[in-house]
Amino acid sequence: MAILLTGGAGYIGSHTAIELLNKGREIVIIDDFSNSNEKVLENIKKITNKDFKFYQIDYKDREQLEKVFEENKIDSVINFAGFKAVGESVQKPLEYYFNNVSGAIILLDTMRKYDCKKFIFSSSATVYGNPERVPITENSRVGGTTNPYGTTKLMIEKILEDLYKSDNTWDICVLRYFNPVGSHESGLIGEEPKGIPNNLMPYIVRVASGELEQLSVFGNDYETPDGTGVRDYIHVVDLSIGHVKALEKLEKEGQGLYIYNLGTGTGYSVLDMVHTFEKATGQKVNYKIAPRRPGDIAACYADPTKAKEELGWVAEKNLEDMCKDSWNYIQTVQRR
Ligand code: UD1
Repeated sequence: MAILLTGGAGYIGSHTAIELLNKGREIVIIDDFSNSNEKVLENIKKITNKDFKFYQIDYKDREQLEKVFEENKIDSVINFAGFKAVGESVQKPLEYYFNNVSGAIILLDTMRKYDCKKFIFSSSATVYGNPERVPITENSRVGGTTNPYGTTKLMIEKILEDLYKSDNTWDICVLRYFNPVGSHESGLIGEEPKGIPNNLMPYIVRVASGELEQLSVFGNDYETPDGTGVRDYIHVVDLSIGHVKALEKLEKEGQGLYIYNLGTGTGYSVLDMVHTFEKATGQKVNYKIAPRRPGDIAACYADPTKAKEELGWVAEKNLEDMCKDSWNYIQTVQRR
């Protein structure tokens, strides 16, 4: 029985592929390389010394997708095939709704046809909008997303809720990621944002490497310990292990719709990030204080208790590991 990873060549998909292969699981990856490339697949094989089947297809292509289900015994699906750039989603809402929401519907409908009903979905802390309080539990109010990307996550969560209500033989797990950073310790795979990055860690890394001149710290007048924005950064390897644990729960217990926050439970400010990065890597990060970025919130971090109690999962890597591994990856990219 195989696990299908849609978007399995992407940032979080590829790291999860490694954790599954290391556990001796059989996987099938589909990816259209819209935000990844063939090299990632080679590197997954190099890191794990294991092989897997791959199809270069768009997960929205129903005919091709059915072929994958025909040719393999797929028992569960982890859906990583979402577009994820917040700014781009504002420019291209139709593309985002089509790829993320229509794509998820096509995938779920195809799964139903082949009686494959174990589904893990990559959601985001963005579904909490501006949280009422921190740390955020899974019961906190959702809604108030500020961009199409975030709204697609919320919509898919709703679709999954309705689907489960209509047919409780589905086993569904929604994972709400906080801020994924870092990369595999080998430096062989990681995140390669196209163009100038929007997210903090990729930006810091490029300032340190000299590719970008200076980091703008967006606001130092928030109600946080040092005035800069506080987030829950989580190492991508920890996050990937969370998927393995979620899958194991569905396989053992099944029949339910489960929602988990995947975060460390600790919030770090933008300046904490800058200083820890400098300490961990020995590189200087040139920065200036700039105005707040529209749509940003002061603080967002998880209460990860539920995942600990029900999945037996806790994030183990610390901020220094995240900084070191992010830096290590960009250096191997630059050496290529
Ligand atoms: C953003 C998205 C979120 C997505 C997440 C992926 C928004 C509103 N939210 O979260 O939907 O799931 O990325 O990781 O866009 N910062 C700077 N300078 C920079 C970049 C960022 O000071 O050049 C600050 C921000 O103001 C914020 C913190 O760093 O306080 C983190 O920002 P970022 O990495 O963009 O993540 P989020 O905004 O939390």
